Amino acid sequence: MATLNLQEMHAIADEAEERMARDLDVGVVRSTLFTLGAVDRTQALGPKRDPNQRMLMGPDPRLPEMPTKPKLIDFFKLRFGPSAHLLQSAKLALKAGHPEKIVIACLLHDIGVVGFIRSDHGYWGAQLVEPYVDEEVSWGIRYHQALRFFPDKDFGYEYPEMYVRLFGKDFDPEPYIKRDYEYARKHKWYGTARQICVNDLYAFEPGVNPQLEEFEDIIGRNFKQPEEGLGWDNTSASHMWRTIMMPTRAL
Ligand SMILES: [Fe+2]
Ligand SMILES: [Fe+2]
Repeated sequence: MATLNLQEMHAIADEAEERMARDLDVGVVRSTLFTLGAVDRTQALGPKRDPNQRMLMGPDPRLPEMPTKPKLIDFFKLRFGPSAHLLQSAKLALKAGHPEKIVIACLLHDIGVVGFIRSDHGYWGAQLVEPYVDEEVSWGIRYHQALRFFPDKDFGYEYPEMYVRLFGKDFDPEPYIKRDYEYARKHKWYGTARQICVNDLYAFEPGVNPQLEEFEDIIGRNFKQPEEGLGWDNTSASHMWRTIMMPTRAL
C-alpha cells in the first residue's frame, strides 16, 4: 500500500467526515489532539458547523465494529496499527527463555504507539495496561521509553543506530527522561525495563510477522481481561480503552 503523507491523510479524513455527515446525518469533530501539528487549533478554523447538526455520540461507522465485551486481542485486531514490531519483540523474549512477565511486557511495550498516543508512549502505554497486568510489567513499559536512550554494556544494549537516523546524532533527551532513567537504573525492576529495550532493538525485521494467536495463552495468564470487556469495566484506564474504541465521539 502506498504511504500517504499527513496532508493526504487529512484530505481523506475530511472527505470521509463529509460523506458521513451526508449519509448518516451526523457530524464528526476530531479531537484537538488528533489534529494539532497539522493545524493550529488556537486559530479560528474554517466556517462554523451548523449548530443544529447532530453529532456522533457512539461508535464510528467507518471503523470495524467492536464486540460488546472487547478483549485485548480485539483491540489489536480491530483498532491498533500494525503490530509486527510488538510481536517480534515478544517472540525474541520468548526465544531467549525469559519469563512470561517479560514476554507480555515486550508484547505490550509500544501499545502507546500502535494504539493510542505516540508522544510519551511509554507512560501512556503503562497507564493503559496498569490495572490488568503485574505491577512489574507496567513499570517496565513506563521506563523502557527513557532507558532506550541510554546504553548498558552489561545487557549488551547500545544506543540505537535507528535513533541516530531518526532523531539526529546530536539529539539530547529532555531532563525528565534523564531523571526517569536515573531513577529506573537504581530500581529493583530495572532489568525488566532493560530487557524490553534489548528485545526492542532487533524487532524491526521487515517481513517477519509472528501471529498474535501464538501469544494467546501468555496473554490469558498475564493480562486480566475484565468480565465486562475492556473499556466497560471501572478502572483508572477504562476511559482510555473507550476512547480507542470510539475515538470520534463528540463528548
Ligand atoms: Fe518504545
Ligand atoms: Fe519498541
